[in-house]
Amino acid sequence: MYDAELARVLLTEQQIRNKIDELAEQLSRDFRERCRDGADALVLVGVLKGSVMFLADLARALSIPAQLEFLTLSSYGSAAVSSGKVRLVNDLETDLSSRHVLIVEDVIDSGLTLAWLLQHLEVRKPASLEVCALLRKQTTRKADVPVRYVGFDIPNEFVVGYGIDFAERYRDLPFIAILETAAEPCTPR
Ligand code: IMP
Ligand code: MG
Repeated sequence: MYDAELARVLLTEQQIRNKIDELAEQLSRDFRERCRDGADALVLVGVLKGSVMFLADLARALSIPAQLEFLTLSSYGSAAVSSGKVRLVNDLETDLSSRHVLIVEDVIDSGLTLAWLLQHLEVRKPASLEVCALLRKQTTRKADVPVRYVGFDIPNEFVVGYGIDFAERYRDLPFIAILETAAEPCTPR
């Protein structure tokens, strides 16, 4: 499946699984005292659609209860040059005031998407607001975003798989790969 189009596997299923276990252990430790259950439970805010696999696996690896929430963003631009124009397609309905909130994101590139999202959620007065990103590209960040939890620092290449797409394809791969063309994608993503 897709084989001819993938340059190479960057992160295997096993590597992803091990990293998620590590992150979950750290998060469970960090939030155990602050987040009990019910109205205090940690709120995982997934950014659709890219973070869906990561959030699903992370939630199951945590040893503390978590509430799952999602919002849909659409960012436009190429892999190299992010326009920073973020469109909110579907917002959260949940009240975040006094809640401990963890944004779960797939990839940080320029940082502009996350900067926008942090501002968008901060006004709702959560008790705390942190970010957990599976991948962070080694590139010049246009926005300096505080990211406490990072899975992997990766080269500045266009990646797909494990929820991450190119033109809505490859999300269903269980691993993360570098796209063969590695061309600068100029379609909306
Ligand atoms: P940023 O705003 O430049 O940090 O871009 C972050 C968003 O762009 C992420 O939420 C991803 O959806 C998308 N993105 C960044 N790099 C890649 C990639 O290599 N493959 C697929 N999507 C990407
Ligand atoms: Mg995204």
